[in-house]
Amino acid sequence: MDTKILIIGACGQIGTELTQKLRQIYGVDNVIASDIRKLNIDVVNDGIFEVVNALDYNQIEHLIEKYQITDVYLMAALLSATAEKNPAFAWDLNMNSLFHVLNLAKAGKIKKIYWPSSIAVFGPTTPRDNTPQYTIMEPSTVYGISKQTGERWCEYYHTQYGVDVRSIRYPGLISWSTPPGGGTTDYAVDIYHKAITEGEFTSFLSENSGLPMMYMDDAIKATIGIMQAPAEQIKIRSSYNLSAMSFTPKEIAAEIKKHFPDFAIDYAPDFRQKIADSWPASIDDSRAREDWGWQNDYNIENMTVEMIAKLKEHIYK
Ligand SMILES: NC(=O)c1ccc[n+]([C@@H]2O[C@H](COP(=O)([O-])OP(=O)(O)OC[C@H]3O[C@@H](n4cnc5c(N)ncnc54)[C@H](O)[C@@H]3O)[C@@H](O)[C@H]2O)c1
Repeated sequence: MDTKILIIGACGQIGTELTQKLRQIYGVDNVIASDIRKLNIDVVNDGIFEVVNALDYNQIEHLIEKYQITDVYLMAALLSATAEKNPAFAWDLNMNSLFHVLNLAKAGKIKKIYWPSSIAVFGPTTPRDNTPQYTIMEPSTVYGISKQTGERWCEYYHTQYGVDVRSIRYPGLISWSTPPGGGTTDYAVDIYHKAITEGEFTSFLSENSGLPMMYMDDAIKATIGIMQAPAEQIKIRSSYNLSAMSFTPKEIAAEIKKHFPDFAIDYAPDFRQKIADSWPASIDDSRAREDWGWQNDYNIENMTVEMIAKLKEHIYK
């Protein structure tokens, strides 16, 4: 059977770029984008788009039958900073959307699921540097608790029911085309915009707050890479550690200064500092590299060159 894809949460930071790439690879008619909101963006206008609520099992089932979907990419979620403001709703959305998709696969209605986890599954008791795949996991945010629980259920559905679910623990993601959706690493996108438009930036994390980060092109490459790998290569069915680079606000500011020598940064840490302090500074992703051949293309230097060029070319013309 040909691959027919449904992306739930396609209008978000990752969904927009993922949808475009999947349409290029599998063809416009084989990729159905969906989201709870219908925005006037390429994802909606350039192919098939449906409004769907990820919390409504019947709506998802209907779309799966209508388009004979084989693969679901579940990107809808409440992110870390937003989730802290509405813990009960975050738990509801992040968990029940996952259960719906897992149960549809268990019922044999779809073949493969992609579900993203996050470095937020780790907590203050986790070793912070080069965090191993298997280690202490005591997340202290509702977002992290939902992602860790989700990982356990993914592995359970795989072992008990043979569900082919694949997952990556994304670090903070940086992209030029879509605004970030309320995460603790959002500053690392905003800083590029402000460098171009204002020449100065106030960081909501302190200067030496190191976090793992990744350029969006690499995240999309990993997402499609893990989904295209033969099933037997996916040996971890909770979620894979994934890494490309780690930096602090001070380090990214220094990189930006190479392009804008007058760029100035100051620091006004807010509630997100506490979240950042509970997360790893760097990640050991050797299992993803060994098992299914993960390799990153971007580091802080070439990402900065590309972010500035793309923002100038497309956004601040
Ligand atoms: N962006 C990051 O840095 C990052 C890092 C780690 C993990 N992740 C994970 O990746 C996934 C996607 O993240 P993102 O950054 O694109 O998030 P985002 O907030 O930018 O996008 C999420 C999308 O889901 C949609 N959505 C929300 N509720 C919905 C519902 N009930 N039904 C259907 N759609 C709904 C939103 O409208 C939005 O377009 C999430 O699971 C997130 O936890 C993201």
